[in-house]
Amino acid sequence: MITSSKEQTEDVSSETNLRPQNFSEYIGQEQIKKNLDIAIQAAQKRGEVLDHMLFYGPPGLGKTSLAFLIADALGSNIQVTSGPALEKAGDLASILTNLERGDILFIDEVHRLNNALEEVLYSAMEDFVIDIVVGQGPSAKTLRLDLSPFTLVGATTKFGSLTGPFRSRFGNVYNFDFYHPAEIQQILQRSSDLLGADISEDEVLEQIAQRSRQTPRVANRLLRRIRDYADVYNNGYITAEAADSSFELLGIDAYGLEEGDKKLLSALIENFNGGPAGLATLAAATAEEPITIEEIYEPFLLRQGFIQKTARGRVATEWSFQYLGKEGSPKSNSLL
Ligand SMILES: Nc1ncnc2c1ncn2[C@@H]1O[C@H](COP(=O)(O)OP(=O)(O)OP(=O)(O)O)[C@@H](O)[C@H]1O
Ligand SMILES: [Mg+2]
Repeated sequence: MITSSKEQTEDVSSETNLRPQNFSEYIGQEQIKKNLDIAIQAAQKRGEVLDHMLFYGPPGLGKTSLAFLIADALGSNIQVTSGPALEKAGDLASILTNLERGDILFIDEVHRLNNALEEVLYSAMEDFVIDIVVGQGPSAKTLRLDLSPFTLVGATTKFGSLTGPFRSRFGNVYNFDFYHPAEIQQILQRSSDLLGADISEDEVLEQIAQRSRQTPRVANRLLRRIRDYADVYNNGYITAEAADSSFELLGIDAYGLEEGDKKLLSALIENFNGGPAGLATLAAATAEEPITIEEIYEPFLLRQGFIQKTARGRVATEWSFQYLGKEGSPKSNSLL
């Protein structure tokens, strides 16, 4: 889906180009930036390595971008990997032993590291040592290796999936929030300058921002699609009218909702009478993967007040019923 906040193949190259190059180009997330600035300055004053950091929040909100900026600010190298990419303890050990003092190790989807690797990270994070087993059977020996002090920056969309001991080893935990439409507009302004997109009418950026699910990645992707449309049908001029036609073709409504969102809301309202319905049940009813519902549809629908999450499952709000023009009423909170 076009408004998926998850990274898609095309995003990878264009995101490298559109990625903020310094903190002043990194719009929004003010609280995180302030805390980070203090952490960086304090570490530099004391000549220490920056404490480990955990970034969590929905996809596309700028976690990876910020990790690169930190490395840049520190003048350190950044090594990038991800939970699913690391399989054997040896893979991780070789990355760790190659780090230099003050380097950043960025692990995306850190909640998907397997247990054995998580254990390796415990001692690496806490004491900058790892124990590796050499040899097999009775002659196997444990060898302790010293590491250069480094900073682990872990990113996750699922804070709750991290074990307590792992979480507690991160000295700084930053929760990434959705962006204000005005911030998204600023990001779009910069991106359209970089892309050389001809935005012919001022309201266009507002139109795109409104449909971007408060997510920079989605905003940049919509901008690229509208630019394509304008190049093909409007001599490259991105007007409000061209943008509207493009949104219509893409199937995105004024709230940034797509077919998939509507399917989910309809299922909740029509099949389950507004809920509560569990994740697995909703997944079956909509033929979507539970993880897609959890990571892509839900965070935004929750944020926008279309649904609520309760102990007994998801419920549709009054706003949802209105949005779909459905009769009936949402479950009142007192019943949940
Ligand atoms: N604060 C920001 N200011 C300007 N542009 C941003 C900002 N945050 C994100 N972007 C843009 O959005 C794109 C996606 O951001 P990024 O890859 O950092 O997200 P992410 O949180 O790491 O996502 P994921 O969870 O999928 O890894 C970036 O390439 C960048 O162009
Ligand atoms: Mg990322």
